Amino acid sequence: MRMHLDFTGRHVFVFGGTTGINFGIAQAFARCGAHVSVASRTRENVDAALAALQSQGAQACGVCADVRDFEAVGAAFAEAVQRFGPIDALVSGAAGNFLCPANAMSANGFRSVVDIDLIGSFNVLRQAYAHLRKPGASLINITAPQSMVAMRSQAHAAAAKAGVDQLTRVLALEWGADGIRVNAISPGPIDGTEGFRRLIARTPEELAQAQRDVPMGRFGTIDDIANLALFLASPHASYLSGAVIPCDGGGALDSVKPALERAALQP
Ligand code: COA
Ligand code: NAP
Repeated sequence: MRMHLDFTGRHVFVFGGTTGINFGIAQAFARCGAHVSVASRTRENVDAALAALQSQGAQACGVCADVRDFEAVGAAFAEAVQRFGPIDALVSGAAGNFLCPANAMSANGFRSVVDIDLIGSFNVLRQAYAHLRKPGASLINITAPQSMVAMRSQAHAAAAKAGVDQLTRVLALEWGADGIRVNAISPGPIDGTEGFRRLIARTPEELAQAQRDVPMGRFGTIDDIANLALFLASPHASYLSGAVIPCDGGGALDSVKPALERAALQP
């Protein structure tokens, strides 16, 4: 069967959708005909994303809102829905991260990331509920491999994203009866993004090693993630709910082993 990825006239809202992976997802939906709303904290990012979407011919709406502010999140949805009607697909991907060992992290550093990634996801999903097309809406959380695989210097993000995974499953249970599907995408290292710059590698040698550590031998692209989001929002995924789907070239399967294998191969 041919994949039919036509979102003409559908309303797709991407929270945290003004830069990086999430913005790439917004652009992909726009290319498939969707009316696209994006929101994030920074006016500069919102204006730039809106201008770029409009210059590709999209009907687009941009709103400033911090996911940590429950009321502001609700107001963002109200504004977008006023413009484009009920939300057919929602991507919740706002996040913050940095590398810091737990014994050096301040309580506020830990709390900031949990507030954005986990509490922020709840705020977005909870406020969206009233504005979703029921039945039929597709909700997509953006999680990360450290939700399942322990990684050094990631206590804050790992704890927060593990919460996002479980929120995905619980809401799939609770909202399934409304005809709402809830899934999550767990991207591997995606080249050219802020998360990649902050977390993946510093030196050319580390970069080359990080690439070899992915079973498929390459880093991901923003389109790799956007294509999965299109599928999850489409009727082709109509019986898929409660899934946390790695899109990582198999990387999460092998996160500890490469180091052990390298050590074992040392003469
Ligand atoms: N190492 C250790 N602690 C850090 C840190 C780092 N690199 N960066 C920030 N923190 C700590 C701060 O010191 C502060 O704690 P303190 O008050 O005890 O000093 C706390 O985190 C909050 O920092 P602040 O800059 O006030 O937070 P913010 O709400 O403005 O920003 C962040 C949130 C820190 C997550 C920021 O990096 C951000 O906005 N990130 C968004 C972009 C991003 O991370 N993209 C990648 C997604 S994977
Ligand atoms: P990014 O460009 O920094 O994207 C984060 C987005 O969230 C930005 O648009 C940012 O815009 C917004 N945001 C941050 N804090 C916010 C807040 N408090 N309220 C509202 N919006 C907020 O990073 P990225 O690397 O593309 O990451 C995107 C998503 O993919 C994240 O969920 C991340 O955890 C996940 N991920 C990324 C990778 C990777 O390789 N990059 C791997 C695994 C998972 P403002 O600054 O304007 O608010």
